[in-house]
Amino acid sequence: MIKKWWHDKVAYQIYPKSFYDSNGDGIGDIPGIISKLDYLRDLGVDIIWLSPCYRSPLADQGYDISDYYDIDPRFGTMDDMMELIAETKKRNMYLLMDLVVNHCSDEHEWFQKACQDPDGKYGNFFYLREKQEGKLPTNWRSYFGGSVWEDLPGTNKQYLHVFHKKQPDLNWENPQLREEVYKNINWWLDKGLSGFRIDAIMNIKKALPFCDYEPDRADGLCSMGAMLSQAKGIGEFLGEMRDRTFQKHDAFSVGEVFNEKPEELPDFIGDNGYFSSMFDFNETIFGGSEKGWYDCRPITPDDYKRCCFESQAKIGNIGFLSNIIENHDEPRGVSRYIPDGDCCPESKKMLAALNFMLRGLPFIYQGQELGMENIPFTSMDQVDDISSHEEYRVALEAGLSPQDALKAVSKFSRDNARTPMQWNAQPNAGFTTGTPWLRVNPNYTSINAASQLDDPDSVWNFYKKLIALRKDPVYKETIVYGALEPLWENRHNLMAYYRKGDKTLLVVGNYQKQEQAVTLPSASCNVLLNNYPDLSLEGPVLSLHGYQVVILEL
Ligand code: GLC
Ligand code: CA
Repeated sequence: MIKKWWHDKVAYQIYPKSFYDSNGDGIGDIPGIISKLDYLRDLGVDIIWLSPCYRSPLADQGYDISDYYDIDPRFGTMDDMMELIAETKKRNMYLLMDLVVNHCSDEHEWFQKACQDPDGKYGNFFYLREKQEGKLPTNWRSYFGGSVWEDLPGTNKQYLHVFHKKQPDLNWENPQLREEVYKNINWWLDKGLSGFRIDAIMNIKKALPFCDYEPDRADGLCSMGAMLSQAKGIGEFLGEMRDRTFQKHDAFSVGEVFNEKPEELPDFIGDNGYFSSMFDFNETIFGGSEKGWYDCRPITPDDYKRCCFESQAKIGNIGFLSNIIENHDEPRGVSRYIPDGDCCPESKKMLAALNFMLRGLPFIYQGQELGMENIPFTSMDQVDDISSHEEYRVALEAGLSPQDALKAVSKFSRDNARTPMQWNAQPNAGFTTGTPWLRVNPNYTSINAASQLDDPDSVWNFYKKLIALRKDPVYKETIVYGALEPLWENRHNLMAYYRKGDKTLLVVGNYQKQEQAVTLPSASCNVLLNNYPDLSLEGPVLSLHGYQVVILEL
């Protein structure tokens, strides 16, 4: 494996709208991010991924871009962005933006021109089809509900949108469109950006010619997966994009990749893969249902372990996965992966260590380092996220009571992760002096950064120690490149694995409330990290408290 500049780094995702508001309008912004860079540097973060802050109507919170060359005024100005790039460089940090090029906004100039002249140049930037009475071009269901087809305003045509109708899909089959995308990527890289997180990228290749697939719900539509599993040849687009952009700049790219085929992994993230890395979503998709969120199965500690080990085995040393506990599309990991009622600083630290020590590039999502939790919703009026509203509708349609539907949505809503960052115990968690765009989690008085920074036993300081361990010159080689080998795989509610390089490390987490003991392979060991003040080791017998996690050097 060829070594790359980003392998030994630690990454952090910022959701700009909810990070820090510098001017009191209730919306997080770029000057706010700049003012918090030292907080991130202090934690040990190297790479920052910004969710979109380009000009956008924010129909899908910025994942609907109306100008790829500008910053939305709500987030700041282009000058602010240039300052952010400069300030990260000063601190030896790297900045990534979000590359959202499966679709743009219906308010983008290209789409406006396509409406004016659907048979002209820009009509071919999109997927347009003649409108037929009583029949849609295909029976695909949008990720956000309903048909993927919508009338193209002012014309007798319809356009394709696999996400919201305000997010028309871009036609990657058209070389002119691809040129525009590459031009934009290079423009940003020339400005000093270190790379991109690449949004929804598996959707850019459609199975052609378009056709219907077997319906999977009573609405007569089929999920997008049905079409995508038939799409062939995405590698030509991805390889071209790499060659024309990232490669020339030695940029870092991490793909939001779903449903790749195992034999394609080397093409995706091997040496000279399409991307530097891709996210491991094995845990987040566990228990999913075609029917909707209301039908999803909760994940147990044993499932969680299996998902992690499955991904690790699949990837081996082909390349680097990017490991996450949560992101802006998922509920808070501590509320999801820790059994109900057991969420506490110890269990949060255990989850952190088990995830952080996996082979791959660790990503922290804002607030994860504080142990931020899901927000209790008491009404759908408190929910902004478009996909949550659709899932609520689907649950009601399936016959759930409004209370049960709300419960289902509360568990999975993307807004759980989008509530404002909890900086301190002041009003609105110190996120804004105005009215926050989304309700602050009422637990901010006990969970916030100010109270954790100076507390050596806080979740924040545990993350800081994990990051420091990854960078410790003595252990770095092993933690970054060492092989991962599961241990005691069939032990219930226990997750343990070796990391083997020039050192041999053992990570052991007791994934339950009750104590549990294991017999270590060797009686002499060095404790590198422990989420409890004490450790019970008698000879080779290690007795662990509930949710105790230790990292040992054998
Ligand atoms: C990705 C983003 C998500 C967005 C979707 C459409 O999944 O992470 O937030 O809604 O793509 O752009
Ligand atoms: Ca603001």
